[in-house]
Amino acid sequence: MHVEKRSEFFIEQSKDPKMANLIHRVLDSYANDDWRGISSELQLSPSDVVVDIGGGKGALLEEIGDSVSARVLVDLPEVIDLVNFTEIETVSADIFSDEIPTGDVYLMSRILHDWGDSKCIELLYRIPKTARLIIIDRIAEPEKHGLLSLNMLLLTGGRERTHSEWMAIFSEAGWSLTAQSTWASHAIMHLEAC
Ligand SMILES: C[S@@+](CC[C@H](N)C(=O)[O-])C[C@H]1O[C@@H](n2cnc3c(N)ncnc32)[C@H](O)[C@@H]1O
Repeated sequence: MHVEKRSEFFIEQSKDPKMANLIHRVLDSYANDDWRGISSELQLSPSDVVVDIGGGKGALLEEIGDSVSARVLVDLPEVIDLVNFTEIETVSADIFSDEIPTGDVYLMSRILHDWGDSKCIELLYRIPKTARLIIIDRIAEPEKHGLLSLNMLLLTGGRERTHSEWMAIFSEAGWSLTAQSTWASHAIMHLEAC
């Protein structure tokens, strides 16, 4: 198995609607628990248009609420079909090939750990460099996250990354870390173009 080729997990799962429904219900339940109360950590302004890349069923944007000027949820069509929002704009798109909606702040929560380094860099390049980017993901401690990392590798071709591994892919894609905090065992990493 070549790591970079094991990256179509979510597209494969969409072929079985029952399984896809179950997977996204479980992911949404985790997101609802983990992102409850996170909003103030994201340093958002009332004028911001916030785009959640691979935002699933919208738990993070719901948590942010109407404290920002607009919220845009981007995910695969079969996931967007599962939601029904009036105050959140929804966009069905493949984040690697379709146009990314315009925003001031882009969120990627638990996205990059699904992908190998070159796909991460490709995706990071697709985000406009005029925007702020907030990555919410784990920072691996090898002795603690080895099993989780193996699970990600086998399932999606992704992996958990150490701090220096995160910095390497951000730098390669033209982004640099400006601030970092911790939330629900995840790092919130604020990035700007370097
Ligand atoms: C691990 S889930 C993370 C969900 C949510 N952001 C969270 O914080 O829990 C990864 C999300 O990325 C979406 N996704 C995977 N590949 C995608 C693609 N090519 N285009 C758009 N969304 C994609 C999946 O449908 C899923 O909702």
